Amino acid sequence: MATMTRTGDELSALNRRLAAKPAAHLKVEGLSIGYSTLRGRFRAVEDVAFEVPAGTNLGLVGESGCGKSTVVKALMGLQPASAHVTGTALLDGQNVLGLDDHGLRDVRWNRIALITQSAMNALDPVYCIGDQITEAIRAHEPVSRATAWARAEEMFALVGLPTARLREFPHQFSGGMRQRAVIAMALALNAGLLLADEPTTALDPIMQSQIMARIRGIHAHMRRSMILVTHDIAVVAETCENTVVMYAGKVAESGPTTAVLDRPLHPYTMGLQNAFPRLPVPGQPRQPLISIPGVVPNLLLPPPGCRFASRCPFATDLCRNVVPPVVQMGAQSAACHFTHRAEEFRAAAAQPETWRSLKGSA
Ligand SMILES: Nc1ncnc2c1ncn2[C@@H]1O[C@H](COP(=O)(O)OP(=O)(O)OP(=O)(O)O)[C@@H](O)[C@H]1O
Ligand code: SF4
Ligand SMILES: [Mg+2]
Repeated sequence: MATMTRTGDELSALNRRLAAKPAAHLKVEGLSIGYSTLRGRFRAVEDVAFEVPAGTNLGLVGESGCGKSTVVKALMGLQPASAHVTGTALLDGQNVLGLDDHGLRDVRWNRIALITQSAMNALDPVYCIGDQITEAIRAHEPVSRATAWARAEEMFALVGLPTARLREFPHQFSGGMRQRAVIAMALALNAGLLLADEPTTALDPIMQSQIMARIRGIHAHMRRSMILVTHDIAVVAETCENTVVMYAGKVAESGPTTAVLDRPLHPYTMGLQNAFPRLPVPGQPRQPLISIPGVVPNLLLPPPGCRFASRCPFATDLCRNVVPPVVQMGAQSAACHFTHRAEEFRAAAAQPETWRSLKGSA
C-alpha cells in the first residue's frame, strides 16, 4: 500500500515536472546537407531556413526526395555518417546540429521527439514496449521503474491503447497499434518539439485519419511545437499554422498556411495545389486534377538557376541562369524571380493547358 502511494506521489510530481516543460522554439538557418556518394557530393538539402514559434505546428511538404526526412533526421542527429551538415538549428537558442553523444542524449526524446514514417524502425524488437518507454523516461527523469511504468500506462491510454498491452513486443502489434505506441513513446517526456515524419503513411485510410485526429487532439491538449512532414495538403491545411514547401532540396515557399495555400507565390506551390484537388464545392464545377510534368533535377549537378525551371511554365532565361532571390511579402516568402506576377501566374496555373505546354511565357 505504502509503495503504491509512493508511486502515486512520484508520478504526480513527474507529471507536474513534465507538464511544466515549455513548448520549444526552433529557428533553422542556412541548413545544407550533402551526402558523399561514389559519384560525388549529392546536395540533398541546400540553404534551408524556417522557424517554428513555440506552441505552433509547421507543415513540411514537397515531392518525394525533396529532402524533408533529411532535414528532420539532422534535427535529431540521426543522419548517416556519409552526411555533411552545415548551418544552425537553434532549439530555444541552442544549436542542435553537430552535438556530441552526450548532447544528443539530452536532446533526443527529452527535448525533441520523433514519430517516424515506419514505426517498426523506432521500436526495438527484443524488448516489450512498456520496457522501452520506461527506459526512455528513466534515462531523463530520476524516478522508479514503477513510476515510469505508470507514466507509460497513462501515455497508452492517451493514444487509445489498452494498458495491458505494454507487456507485449512490437511484432505482436498491428501497424496502426505500433504507430500509436510510437506516438505514446514520443509523448512520454513531453518534449518541447515533436517531429512527425509522415506518421500515417504505412496505414490504411481509416487508420490514417484516426491517427491524425489523435495527433491533433494531443497537440490541442498539450500545446507542443510540431513539424509535420506529409504529402497530404489537406492534413496541413487542417493541422498547421505555418507551411514550408520544399522543392529539390530548397525552400520554394513558406509562410502562414492559409496564405501559402490560398495565395501561393511560387509556381511550384501552384502546381502542387492542382495535384491535390480540394473537396468539391456544391454548385461549382469540379477542379481538374493536373499533375506537374517533368522530373526533379539531378542534385549531383544542380542547374545554375532556379531548380524548378525545367518544369515551370513561366520560366525565362533569367530563371535558367540566375538563382532566384527569396522574396519576402508580409509573413510569406518565395524563391522566385517573378513573385510580383503571382496573381497572373495563379490564374494561368489553374488551367491544365499551362502545364501541358511548358513553354516559357514570362
Ligand atoms: N544516405 C543517403 N545517401 C545518399 N543519398 C541519400 C541518402 N538518404 C537520402 N538520400 C537522397 O537524398 C534525397 C532526399 O531524401 P529524403 O529522404 O530526405 O526525401 P523526402 O523528401 O523525405 O522523400 P519522401 O517523401 O519520399 O520521404 C533523395 O534524393 C534521397 O535519395
Ligand atoms: S524563378 Fe522562374 S522558373 Fe523558378 S519558379 Fe519562378 S518563374 Fe518559375
Ligand atoms: Mg521522407
